[in-house]
Amino acid sequence: MSFWQSLTRPIMGMAPMDGVTDAPFRHTVAMQGKPDVSFTEFTHVHDVCRGPEFLLDSLIYHEAERPIVAQLYGKEPDLFYQAAQAVCELGFDGLDINMGCPSRSVASSGSGAGLIRTPDVAQAIMQAARQGIADWAAGQTLEGAGLKPGRVAAIRRLNGQRQDGRPLVRQRIPLSVKTRLGYDVVVVDRWIEHLLVERPALISLHGRTLQQMYRGEADWNAIARAAEIVRGSGTLLFGNGDVHSYHDIIRRVRDTGVDGVLVGRAALGSPWFFRQKEEARLVLQQHLSEEGLESWVPQLDYRFEVLLDHARRFETVCGQGQFRRMRKHLGWYCKGFPHAASLRADMFRVSSVADLEEVLTDFRTRNTSLIEVSNQVLPEPFPML
Ligand SMILES: Cc1cc2nc3c(=O)[nH]c(=O)nc-3n(C[C@H](O)[C@H](O)[C@H](O)COP(=O)(O)O)c2cc1C
Repeated sequence: MSFWQSLTRPIMGMAPMDGVTDAPFRHTVAMQGKPDVSFTEFTHVHDVCRGPEFLLDSLIYHEAERPIVAQLYGKEPDLFYQAAQAVCELGFDGLDINMGCPSRSVASSGSGAGLIRTPDVAQAIMQAARQGIADWAAGQTLEGAGLKPGRVAAIRRLNGQRQDGRPLVRQRIPLSVKTRLGYDVVVVDRWIEHLLVERPALISLHGRTLQQMYRGEADWNAIARAAEIVRGSGTLLFGNGDVHSYHDIIRRVRDTGVDGVLVGRAALGSPWFFRQKEEARLVLQQHLSEEGLESWVPQLDYRFEVLLDHARRFETVCGQGQFRRMRKHLGWYCKGFPHAASLRADMFRVSSVADLEEVLTDFRTRNTSLIEVSNQVLPEPFPML
């Protein structure tokens, strides 16, 4: 039985977002209200097997994030065979293949959502990845899989950096796919049938075609059709797209019968998003009223604490030299309170945790009464718990 089967339905996971859901962010989310499952940002199979070592950084994770699934993309089955074994060696709980990225540089080369147009290649990739997982579980070494000694050493270094890492158990990890409704038109019925031939543990379906990119609204009717096709197959179906709140989760799960949802952009600047997942599950399981299930809004002081904590984690894992990459997150935290826009502007100038502390101290000094008022507005606990 894979870990997917042991999760309580509906499963609420955090969607992979390149440049956003890196290890420091995912760790912060795990501390603030853990999603049922998280995915790494996507990593190209070539970079896993032969790229410059720093590109392996997207496969850093913290034990607190488990279950954590590595997402890979590419189009060469041979590289998937090798990369799958690297993912196993790194101790991930699952391997996900990206068949949904719409970016021109990815899809036009035949990877990501480009695979929807070449279903045979998609199938060959899944077979190769599965074989890689099986061979690794049967005891094949990374060298035996064809990885160079330097790459094997880099993978071992990554393992060594994880504190409290659990001992590696050579077992088959589950394979999953994240995809879209189609390339330029919706072909979801045919596409899902095709994917099911390879019996993935999970298909996560973003309710848009590649051509739509992120425009328009996610089509949850098409997701419902996919859920119908998948039912009884042993494969799970997650819906994804435009879930902004727990009300959305409850409505989508009720209306479509999906096994779970992935939440992406709603968690930006809100790493506490998943804090209320048990309450939402209770509403669904016991057919309770959603009344009272309001989104949890942290007090300002708490928001700043989490933001600082996130920034410190980022500096520790990625180094101060990379701190610019943290700025967008800092900006996303600054919303929904007076003077948020001016604080946001300040955030785009900070280059270290020390700078950030200074900006926050300054903001607090200039807005003492605002902080006091915010701290008095304690969020009501959900009445049923
Ligand atoms: C900045 C950004 C980066 C993304 N990177 C990935 C990725 O690496 N892998 C992937 O499968 N999807 C990626 N996605 C798509 C999201 O996982 C998700 O499918 C999409 O945002 C829709 O969900 P949402 O409406 O909850 O955000 C990305 C989306 C965004 C906005």
